[in-house]
Amino acid sequence: MNLISPNFPEAGEPNIAIKLFPDGDSYMRIHEMAACQGEDVILFHRLYPKQNSAIFNTAQMLHTLKRVGARVTLVAPYLPYARQDKTFLMGEALSAQVLCKLFNDFGAVRLVTLDCHFLKKEGESEYANLKILNISANKLLVEHARKKIGLEPIEVISPDQGANYLVTEFGGKSMSKVRGDYEKSNGAEAYRTVEKVEREFDVTGKNVLILDDMISTGGTMLKAVENVRKGGAKKVICAATHGFFLNDSLAKLRKSADAIFTTNSIPNDAAEVDIMPLLKSALEGNEAPAQESPANPQ
Ligand code: R5P
Repeated sequence: MNLISPNFPEAGEPNIAIKLFPDGDSYMRIHEMAACQGEDVILFHRLYPKQNSAIFNTAQMLHTLKRVGARVTLVAPYLPYARQDKTFLMGEALSAQVLCKLFNDFGAVRLVTLDCHFLKKEGESEYANLKILNISANKLLVEHARKKIGLEPIEVISPDQGANYLVTEFGGKSMSKVRGDYEKSNGAEAYRTVEKVEREFDVTGKNVLILDDMISTGGTMLKAVENVRKGGAKKVICAATHGFFLNDSLAKLRKSADAIFTTNSIPNDAAEVDIMPLLKSALEGNEAPAQESPANPQ
């Protein structure tokens, strides 16, 4: 049984209603509830944009399905809060753990996601008791870049060590990123600026694909492009699995790079690679791991 949120129309006709009550409280209804009773359910629901309300909607969906004994695989192509798996200052929340624990507690049998920031490898894992299937879009992104560049060779590199797992199978190397501290961000925003991106390998005269798991403010990618341009790179292509493009960064990157694109894990103006074939093949014949999920009338 497939359940499809209105925010995931690529997966099919939505069969869940999400609305707001007049005071802003979330209303959620699964139309085909009877068909979910005691069944394996694949729930397609994006967790971005508006991540906090999307997460609350997920809790509503999981709780509703648990009440009829459904075994739910949550398919959420981008996992928000995944960059908060470590603390830098005492007292900070480990939000990645909070979210995975929440999904597990509310009865998700498994999460299927793409290039989850804290996992840094493909395949099955467990985090805060939540079983996660992490799929990488790296091959699709590299294939797409190669189509753009034609027959010329291309070096696949990552802008920091954390994204190294995306490039190793293409013989790629990684730059190093140095972030500043929170003090430099303003007011209510918590952000550690990217101070520099450094490189210890040669890119002179080469076509370069800079591949990352996500482009958020664009700070990392802009510094990485600047670095390889100074290093004498020929053509520079930027790609990432997830594209937020905050702070007008898509326009800035379009000026500085020869091409820029992402998948449609988060819909955006540079989404050129469709994730659905990747998700479908990962889900086909892929039974959810066994786990008790008794009906709970609470
Ligand atoms: C973090 O290390 C990630 O892999 C990305 O490099 C980072 O989140 C991109 O963020 P931004 O676009 O704000 O630099």
